[in-house]
Amino acid sequence: MLHRRRTPRAFFDYADSGSYNEETLRANRVDLEALKLRQKVLVDVSARSLATTVVGQKIAAPLILAPVGLTGMQHGDGEILAARAANAAGIPYTLSTMSICSIEDVAEATAKPFWFQLYVIKDRGFSKAILDRAAEARCNALVLTVDLQVLGQRHRDIKNGMTVPPQIRIRNIIDVASKPAWAWSILKGKRKTFGNLAGQVQGMENVNSLAAWIAQQFDPALSWKDVEWIKNIWPGKLILKGILDVDDAKTAAALGADAIVVSNHGGRQLDGAPSSISMLPKVADAVGNDIEVLFDGGIRTGADILRALALGARACMIGRAYIHGLGAGGQAGVAKAIEILVKELDVAMALTGSNRVGDIGRDMIVGMEAKKPRTVKRTRKKMAE
Ligand SMILES: Cc1cc2nc3c(=O)[nH]c(=O)nc-3n(C[C@H](O)[C@H](O)[C@H](O)COP(=O)(O)O)c2cc1C
Repeated sequence: MLHRRRTPRAFFDYADSGSYNEETLRANRVDLEALKLRQKVLVDVSARSLATTVVGQKIAAPLILAPVGLTGMQHGDGEILAARAANAAGIPYTLSTMSICSIEDVAEATAKPFWFQLYVIKDRGFSKAILDRAAEARCNALVLTVDLQVLGQRHRDIKNGMTVPPQIRIRNIIDVASKPAWAWSILKGKRKTFGNLAGQVQGMENVNSLAAWIAQQFDPALSWKDVEWIKNIWPGKLILKGILDVDDAKTAAALGADAIVVSNHGGRQLDGAPSSISMLPKVADAVGNDIEVLFDGGIRTGADILRALALGARACMIGRAYIHGLGAGGQAGVAKAIEILVKELDVAMALTGSNRVGDIGRDMIVGMEAKKPRTVKRTRKKMAE
C-alpha cells in the first residue's frame, strides 16, 4: 500500500499495529465482515441524505476523524491537513493530546472548530491547563480517552525503536533516504515533536521510548471521580472514548456525559478484548436514549459504517482508514479516504432501501430481521413518555 511505501517503517508500523498477539485487532475486522447486509429492492431511495447530528452538531455524514497520536509524523503538518480535509467534508476532526501540531497550530490553520482528545497525566495542573487551551481554541467537544491508563504493548514499536523525533541510526537513515517526499514534508512541517506537550511536560522534547514515557506520566489511578472533575471544568460537550462494557456505559450515562465511543482503541490496548462491533448492540440496548453512542474499530468501508449504524451507533470514528490516506497522499489522501467511505455508505444505504441515516436499523442485518428498526423503537418510546 502507498502509505507503507512512502513512510518510514517505524511510523507505518506504529499506525498499523495492534497490541500483543493482535487478536482484538483482527477480531474488529472479522466480526464486522461477518455481518451480512439485507438487500432490499424497489424502495424509492431517490431522496437519500447522509446528514445527521452528533452531540448537537450538524454533520454531513455519520463519520468523525478519530484522535491519532503522532499524525504529524505520517506526513508533515498531518494534523492540520487532516483537520482541513474533515472541514471540507463537513465532519468533525479530533486532535489527539499526543499530536505533533499543537492545539493552537491547528486552530490558527483551520477555519472551523475541532474536537480535542485528552489523556489525563499525573500532573492534574497540566490537564487543567490543556483544557483551558482547548476551550480558548474553541474546541467544541472534548473526547476523554479512558482505555489507556497503562499502555498495551505493541511489539513492532519495540522492535523498531520508535522515537520522536526519529532517531538517526544507520538503518533509519537508509529507510528515510528512500522516502524523500516524507522527509521533505517533515522538514517543512511546523514541528518535529509533541506540540501540545513540549516545554510543558518534562522530557517531551525528545522521546526515546514512547512506551516508557507513557508509563511514567499517564495516571494509572484515573477513576470515575476524575471524569466528574473534568465534566465540571470543561465547558463544552463531553465524550468518553474507550467504553466496551455495559456497566461502564451505564455509569457514563449516569454521570451525564454527552456521548460514549464504543471502542477498544483499534485493538491497541487490551488484547483478547472482544471486537467493538460485538459489544455495540449490547451497549446500545443498555443505555437506550440516555446517551449518544458512537463507535470505532475496524471501519474500512462504507458498508462497515452501515453495519455499525444498524447495531446502534449514531456515527463512526475512523483511525487507520484516514491515516493511510494521509501517509499516501497528504490532505488529498485524507479527502479521498473520506470521499470513498461516504460514497460507499451512500450506495450501501440505497441498496438496503434507506433514505436517511435514522432509517438504518437492526433489521438491515441478515438474521436480525425480526428486530424493530431503531426509528420505530424510538418513536414508540417517545409516545410512551
Ligand atoms: C496510530 C494510532 C494512534 C492512535 N492514537 C490515539 C490517541 O492519541 N488517542 C486516542 O484516544 N486514540 C488513539 N488511537 C485510537 C483511535 O482513536 C481509534 O480508536 C482507532 O484507530 C479505531 O480503530 P481503526 O483504526 O480500526 O479505525 C490511535 C490509533 C492509531 C491507529
